[in-house]
Amino acid sequence: MGGTEEFLSVRAESFQQTAYQHKWLATNRVRNRSQVNPTFIVKSVKGMSMTSAVLEEVCTTTANPPEELRSRLLAKGDKLQMVPDVAMKALALAKDPRCSIAEFTSVVERDVKLAADILKITNSAFYGARHPILNLRQAVVRLGFAHCRNVILAASLGSMMKRMPLSEAWLQTVLWRHAVLTGTLSVKLNQTLKLGFDGEEFTAGLIHDVGRSLIGVVAPNHLSAADPLDFEESPEMLLRERDILRTDHCELGAWFMAHSKLPSTLVEVVKFHHNPVGATKENVKLVALTAVADDMANYLQRSDTADGYDPESNFALDVLFGGDPARRRQFVTEAVDMMELVSREANSTNQPFGLS
Ligand SMILES: [Fe+2]
Ligand SMILES: [Fe+2]
Repeated sequence: MGGTEEFLSVRAESFQQTAYQHKWLATNRVRNRSQVNPTFIVKSVKGMSMTSAVLEEVCTTTANPPEELRSRLLAKGDKLQMVPDVAMKALALAKDPRCSIAEFTSVVERDVKLAADILKITNSAFYGARHPILNLRQAVVRLGFAHCRNVILAASLGSMMKRMPLSEAWLQTVLWRHAVLTGTLSVKLNQTLKLGFDGEEFTAGLIHDVGRSLIGVVAPNHLSAADPLDFEESPEMLLRERDILRTDHCELGAWFMAHSKLPSTLVEVVKFHHNPVGATKENVKLVALTAVADDMANYLQRSDTADGYDPESNFALDVLFGGDPARRRQFVTEAVDMMELVSREANSTNQPFGLS
């Protein structure tokens, strides 16, 4: 057997194995498939003969999403501009040690909506400002340039997520709510457990699933088959996406974030939020925090309540708190209270943070 015939046979075997793998993963209650050695999964599935080609195809993702999907994304042009030009300029300025507050605010003020969104975020309940921040100058003085960079990213990316040109409005509502819940839970976790982040945790939570929205934009006819939006975000969901689209929402989102020249930290959050151990040492804590918050947000959206949530079931817990048993215990004790608080606050408004 060779050539085309062999290729088709490998493809057929690959699909069969994928189905077996779904079943194996479900039977063994594996929450994070990527943490399991693929060879182990495959060897554990009865009656299968392996070839390296099949392993390669089923168990790993490619470096880039398929060319067709990338072209469709790029064809959307300005409709998918992640960060407007003014915000990009302000982000670069805020990194320059010679930049003055006056220079920075004069650039941001050129985009009225961006300036308004920054004030809405910094004055939101989640930021816990004791006195209202009335203007950009005050925001920079109180928060500092580094934090302001993160708020600019949150305002720009949040706004983009909310304007994503999806075919059906309800998809946007559901995914936006998931983004806001994950972002606000990340802020709450950072504050409560004193994890030391400076605003980047909110941006990371907001953007982590951007790939799901992008699938809805470039492959709307396949979205429901690839992603049932059931708030499971299980390993099976990634496998299904790869079967149907030859990529998954982590890979597609990360590719587009990198193409849009967004910080590599956020690219890693998008790429590894279902597999935090894959992130670089530098970013693994933020990626794990996002994954922990994602798990909590999914539970809230599945159950509509924090009741019954088992913090020990959170698959990213050990990555975030592996070397820190005291914080781990605090998380287990306070997780449900944090979820209840965030859920109440998120339910109190239809427009979290007023981003439009
Ligand atoms: Fe996800
Ligand atoms: Fe998610």
